[in-house]
Amino acid sequence: MTHNSQEALLEIRELHKNYGAQPVLSDISLSVKKGEVVVILGPSGCGKSTLLRCINGLEEIQAGKIFLNNIEISNAGTQWHLIRQKVGMVFQSYDLFPHMTILDNILLGPVKVQKRNKQEARKQAEKLLDRVGLLEKINAYPRQLSGGQKQRVAIVRALCLNPEIILFDEVTAALDPEVVHEVLKVMLELANEGMTMIIVTHEMDFAKAVADKIVFMDQGEIKEIASPSDFFKEPSTERGKQFINMFNYNNFVKEREK
Ligand SMILES: Nc1ncnc2c1ncn2[C@@H]1O[C@H](COP(=O)(O)OP(=O)(O)OP(=O)(O)O)[C@@H](O)[C@H]1O
Ligand SMILES: [Mg+2]
Repeated sequence: MTHNSQEALLEIRELHKNYGAQPVLSDISLSVKKGEVVVILGPSGCGKSTLLRCINGLEEIQAGKIFLNNIEISNAGTQWHLIRQKVGMVFQSYDLFPHMTILDNILLGPVKVQKRNKQEARKQAEKLLDRVGLLEKINAYPRQLSGGQKQRVAIVRALCLNPEIILFDEVTAALDPEVVHEVLKVMLELANEGMTMIIVTHEMDFAKAVADKIVFMDQGEIKEIASPSDFFKEPSTERGKQFINMFNYNNFVKEREK
C-alpha cells in the first residue's frame, strides 16, 4: 500500500483497537490532507466516536500508527496535552464550565494551557465570537445560552487554540431541529476557509454539502472511501446502499402505501 505521507496532515495506518477482547476498530487506514473535510458516516456502534477518540489520544490502540505532519503521535511517549492543542475536538455535549462566563470558558485553554498573552487571546476570542454572531454573549454564563449557541461557543473554544485540524463528533445530535442549521452553517464556513476537519454526523444533506470525501464505516472497518457525489449517487458496497436507503423517507411512504 502506498501512502502520500508527504502531503497528509493526518495519517492513520492500519489501526486496530479492542475493548477487552472485543475488536472495535480493524485495520483503519485513512489520510487527511491540509484543508480537506472528511465526513465519517456509518451505523450506530460502528466505531466512529472511538476512531476520533484514538486520533485525540483518548483511547489506547492495540496496533497501527497515527501521524500528524509526518510525526508519529501514536507512540507511548506522545505528549497528548501538546497534540490536543493541534487537534481540536468538539463533542455532542459542549462541556462548558457552568460557573465561568463564555469568555473565560474560551480563554481557559489559550491562557492557562498555551500561556498566551490574555489581551491577545481575548482579541481573538472576540473576533471569533463575533463571527459566529455571539459577541453580545461574551460575559453571559452557559445557562443563559440556547443549545445551538452553546455549541457555537464550543466551536469557538476549539478554534481559539489555533488547531491544525478539528474533529467534530455529532455536534448537532442533541440540538433542537431549528438550531441545528446555525451550527452547521458555522462548520460550512470553516470548511470554506480551509480548515481541516473530520466530521461525524447523521445529517446527510450537510455531509453531502461539506465533505471532500466520505468515509463509510461498518462494524469497525472502513467499507468505502468516496466522493460525496459518488457515495450518495451509488455506494459501491451493499452495506453502504442499505445505509443511505435508511435516510430515504420515500421508502417509508412506499411502505405506508402498501
Ligand atoms: N468504553 C467502552 N468500553 C467498551 N466498549 C465500548 C466503549 N465505548 C464504546 N464501546 C463499544 O465500541 C463500539 C463502537 O462504539 P462507538 O461509540 O465508537 O460507535 P459510534 O459509531 O460512535 O456509534 P454512535 O453512532 O451511536 O455514536 C460499540 O460496540 C460500543 O458498544
Ligand atoms: Mg458516536
